[in-house]
Amino acid sequence: MKFAEYDYRDVQGADGCSAMDGVWDAHWRGRQGLKGDLSDEPLWPTIREHLRTPGRLLEAGCGTGQWVQFLGGLGHDAVGIDYAPSGLEVGRAHNPSLNLIQADFRSLPFDDGSFDYVVSFGAVEHDIEGPEDALREFHRVLKPDGKLMCSVPCLNLYRTIGYPLLAIRKWLKCRTMLRRLRGKTAPFVFYEYIWSPKGYQTILSQCGFNVLAMHGYGNVLKSRPTQLLDAIAARVWPLSSAHMMMAICEKGQIA
Ligand SMILES: C[S@@+](CC[C@H](N)C(=O)[O-])C[C@H]1O[C@@H](n2cnc3c(N)ncnc32)[C@H](O)[C@@H]1O
Repeated sequence: MKFAEYDYRDVQGADGCSAMDGVWDAHWRGRQGLKGDLSDEPLWPTIREHLRTPGRLLEAGCGTGQWVQFLGGLGHDAVGIDYAPSGLEVGRAHNPSLNLIQADFRSLPFDDGSFDYVVSFGAVEHDIEGPEDALREFHRVLKPDGKLMCSVPCLNLYRTIGYPLLAIRKWLKCRTMLRRLRGKTAPFVFYEYIWSPKGYQTILSQCGFNVLAMHGYGNVLKSRPTQLLDAIAARVWPLSSAHMMMAICEKGQIA
């Protein structure tokens, strides 16, 4: 359902929205070192469950390559790609043996069917054109029995309640005239889409994936009383408070 997305496709180009060119490069520049042990990360239990058997693994949108290093240490033949050179430089300076390649994941420099796993954590939602080009590339480079693990932000219960206000705020932020009145000359920079679990599953299946499971992580409600509230909400609203959702998929047929 269109309403259940932060969808900027309609305003793209019409009122000064621009893509995220250069934003990630600035984000990683000046960082130092990689976190060695990622087993305390909220997405780790899901990754551990589904990446038990070592294989050839691609991380699309690897940033500094911290997961490439960690998963490589667990026996995977891991390669990371990212289009922001500064993140890759941080990773290479810390660990020159990491296999990190600067490339755009919408056009992957790999043969068809060359990976057992493609993983991507919080990356495909940042393309104003939508995630489909990236997902079709992930599909192409996976082996016939390969698996995709791909996480994006989740339109959970609480974001859905606040959605009308957020949508109005974002719409206003995109208006060039209003930006000028506030003294801003640069165009509004698109940041990310947020899909409902159902909307995300539809996109994945249109790109040829069979969704085996959806896991939420990084809950937005942290205190004890709200967790109780959340346990009740979760019974009627799947992933009710998940900040991110990870889809576990097998390769199927492109529609
Ligand atoms: C939120 S960061 C995730 C970093 C990393 N996965 C981690 O968990 O440490 C998203 C990354 O995706 C990369 N990215 C976004 N779109 C991309 C594209 N089309 N091609 C390659 N990298 C991309 C960005 O440069 C950024 O480093």
